[in-house]
Amino acid sequence: MQKFFLGFVTALVVVLGAGFLCVRLGLMDPRADIPVNSMERSMAMPSLDAAVDRRAPEVQNPVQPTDANLTAGMNVYQTNCASCHGDVDRSRGMFADSFYPRAPQFLEDAPDMPENQNFYIIQHGIRLSGMPAWKPILSEQQMWQVTAFLNHMDKLPPQVSDAWKTMAGRSADETFSRNSATLDGKDKKT
Ligand code: HEC
Repeated sequence: MQKFFLGFVTALVVVLGAGFLCVRLGLMDPRADIPVNSMERSMAMPSLDAAVDRRAPEVQNPVQPTDANLTAGMNVYQTNCASCHGDVDRSRGMFADSFYPRAPQFLEDAPDMPENQNFYIIQHGIRLSGMPAWKPILSEQQMWQVTAFLNHMDKLPPQVSDAWKTMAGRSADETFSRNSATLDGKDKKT
């Protein structure tokens, strides 16, 4: 039994040591735009879900999903989140394929986690990913408003959805003209 235990511990140390060396010697591919491998996809997503489920406090969204709150949430979303998560005008965000793990595209796959869990992720971000913590940037109310917006994204009242189309169309035009100005070298003058 003692021999077995010693063998087990040695094997564990060798495996961990080899893993550490792989990382330390630069054998890991550092690029963010390579395809996400299937093992990571099947391991990382359920483990993130379980970790958030374990930690997110069981609280109700204090913000009611009225047209006014959903519109405020849409504003927060369009200004801060759409470039990574997509919007009504451009279902794949500008950075859809630029992160490892990828940013989920909410128009293709609605964020259907409970509101307290989405709120927790928005507040604290996700370690080792492109998802920032928004607590230092947004107010508590804005974070709840964008949470309500996320959870109603696939069933928005017409007034909110029309306002979203207008705002998204405008930001697409702005991004386009900004990028073409950069390509032409025009922005150097300003
Ligand atoms: C710079 C890019 C970027 C921005 C900006 C960004 N996110 Fe994310 N977000 C990510 C990435 C990448 C992930 C996936 C992380 C992972 O799977 O580990 C993510 C994950 C999430 C998740 C978890 C989704 C799930 O199904 O597990 C939520 C919710 C979320 N983001 C909401 C937001 C909100 C709301 C905003 C704006 C206030 C925002 N994000 C801004 C990159 C971003």
